[in-house]
Amino acid sequence: MRVQVGIIGAGPAGLMLSLLLHRAGISSIIIENRSRQYVEARVRAGVLEHWTTELMSELGVGERLRKEGLVHEGIDIGINGERRRIDFKALVNKTITIYGQQEVVKDLIAARLAQGGEIEFEVSDTSVDRLDSERPIIRYKKNGEPREIECDFIAGCDGFHGICRPSIPKGVLTEFERVYPYGWLGVLSESPPVSHELIYSYTDRGFALYTMRSNSISRLYLQVDPDEDINKWSDEEIWNELKRRVSPETAAKLQTGRVFEKGVTAMRSFVVEPMQFGRLFLSGDAAHIVPPTGAKGMNLAVADVLFFSRALESFYKTKSTSLLDGYTKKCLSRIWKAQRFSYFMTTMLHLNPGDSEFDRRRQLAELDYVTSSKAASTALAENYVGLPID
Ligand code: FAD
Ligand code: DHB
Repeated sequence: MRVQVGIIGAGPAGLMLSLLLHRAGISSIIIENRSRQYVEARVRAGVLEHWTTELMSELGVGERLRKEGLVHEGIDIGINGERRRIDFKALVNKTITIYGQQEVVKDLIAARLAQGGEIEFEVSDTSVDRLDSERPIIRYKKNGEPREIECDFIAGCDGFHGICRPSIPKGVLTEFERVYPYGWLGVLSESPPVSHELIYSYTDRGFALYTMRSNSISRLYLQVDPDEDINKWSDEEIWNELKRRVSPETAAKLQTGRVFEKGVTAMRSFVVEPMQFGRLFLSGDAAHIVPPTGAKGMNLAVADVLFFSRALESFYKTKSTSLLDGYTKKCLSRIWKAQRFSYFMTTMLHLNPGDSEFDRRRQLAELDYVTSSKAASTALAENYVGLPID
């Protein structure tokens, strides 16, 4: 089989890329090792930056998002129970939209299949070869049968644990990493959100985040140890701890409900440079990870593939490789700013084990400054809604 772009991975990066390429008249196929049902049910991100929402509409996949997405004009930051609002609309005249990543994935899959696009689910033994030639190859098995796709380019959209990044020869990539000494215990529950907007809550007991998927489904996170055993937490203990990490007034409003999803996620910052080797280009979590506190991961994945699709469009129209050659530089300029912001939000809001009293007082001063200075809260708002994409 022969295709212009072979895409590995049907997460937000791979799916969005296939739609962008279709719009540009470039052929692609996606191969994915999980089932459609599995990827559509995988609970992850929830915040779309303003331009991500606009791009989905531009691509004709914004209808359900416009109906079901919750548009937020700000967030609350809690400082030991005191809630202070950061008003994005007033500060930077932009908003964000709460819409679950699995809903984005469902919409993108449906749209791509309706275009006649090919997505091969449940493949195994994926590998890539001849990356530094003009005809790179993807090999995989479907129902145990070996298959081969010859491409002009391969898009490595296979996430942090995928095979694309490790297929690049040793010595080409430099990795930059920071692992944080905490993780998030996350739950989904059948209960209305405690507040109309998100609450990022710093407390002496650790961080908590009160977010949502709809007006009847809450998404709640607690700072825990990175290797915390989820089985040690009963639903009752989770609710009690969530109540302890807000003021008594907010705790009184927190409605409990059936918990139907539970998990612990460790936190890291990771970037690989460069993001390309020969005809293989990495996008999204395959090339970088941010800690979730800044809500940047899915949006960064979409930005990478937007830049990649523009570079491919220019290549097929003009035969110029200049945008392809500049892909890493273009992506990294945005990625490192998102890394900086995610690190800032994460270290400002979490209790860092081993911190001295000096560190704690400096952290409280930072929270006070960010929520009371117009200059500082504008900087937070500008980054949270998403830096301009050009
Ligand atoms: P993925 O979504 O990981 O997709 C990669 C795909 O490749 C998967 O479907 C995988 O099955 C497939 N694959 C892997 N290996 C192979 C192989 N060998 N062959 C074929 N297919 C393969 N981001 C935000 O923007 N906002 C948030 O609010 C936010 N909150 C988060 C909260 C949590 C708890 C977590 C865990 C993450 C959060 N993120 C958030 C991050 C976001 O979920 C990721 O950044 C996003 O999923 C990246 O998309 P991707 O397409 O690059 O990778
Ligand atoms: C959600 C996740 C985040 O990491 C975040 O910063 C905000 C919201 C969410 O799942 O809704």
